[in-house]
Amino acid sequence: MRRTRLIGTLLTLTAIVLAMFAWSCQSAQQGTSAAPASAAKVDPVVRGRYLVSIMSCNDCHTPGTFYGAPDTTRRLSGSDLGWLGPWGVVHARNLTPDSTTGIGSWTKDQIVTALKTGNTPSGVQLAPIMPWVNYAGVLDDGDAMAIASYLKSLPPVTHKILDRQPPGAKPVGGIIMFPPPPAWDAPKGAPKDAPKDAPAAK
Ligand code: HEC
Repeated sequence: MRRTRLIGTLLTLTAIVLAMFAWSCQSAQQGTSAAPASAAKVDPVVRGRYLVSIMSCNDCHTPGTFYGAPDTTRRLSGSDLGWLGPWGVVHARNLTPDSTTGIGSWTKDQIVTALKTGNTPSGVQLAPIMPWVNYAGVLDDGDAMAIASYLKSLPPVTHKILDRQPPGAKPVGGIIMFPPPPAWDAPKGAPKDAPKDAPAAK
């Protein structure tokens, strides 16, 4: 009887020790994964390349991506596919550091501002087809700066993007066209950068 009680006590003690061991392993693991990304000292260019990839910047800015074959030798050098909508016609621009046809003259801060507000150094308000609206108020400063660092690290590619065309102008070249929005998709009130003659919400 005493022996049975002793074995019972020993089993209980073993269970307690094992539970404490499992708990300490779990806490150690949580400690590692909860460490802020910045503490991991990730190279900003590596982080920026990752973000640019998962945020689909290549879709629009790298030729061939929409057709299943991104041309990595001309990565992020812009596209000649025009986006026609209430904003007129715009083209995904050359994001390489080429000083005349790309954004080589922009500072990293100016790139961050464009991503977070849609404002460019020359005072242009980017059309919403460039998804800055999704980044505004959400994109972390460190991540925005990492994207800027990566863009600055790209090999410059000379590729002059077609000028923006105002609403109503005859489109030049290949165009992806946005019809006036169906009722469900119509903005409830004009977007703040919409031109005066943009189709009204129904
Ligand atoms: C759905 C297509 C699309 C995606 C995705 C996209 N862009 Fe753009 N981007 C555009 C278009 C179109 C313009 C030009 C808009 C205009 O002229 O109003 C533009 C303009 C820009 C500009 C301004 C450049 C200049 O010279 O004025 C920057 C910077 C930029 N994009 C960076 C990015 C980055 C970084 C990403 C990913 C995080 C990204 N874009 C994702 C379509 C896109």
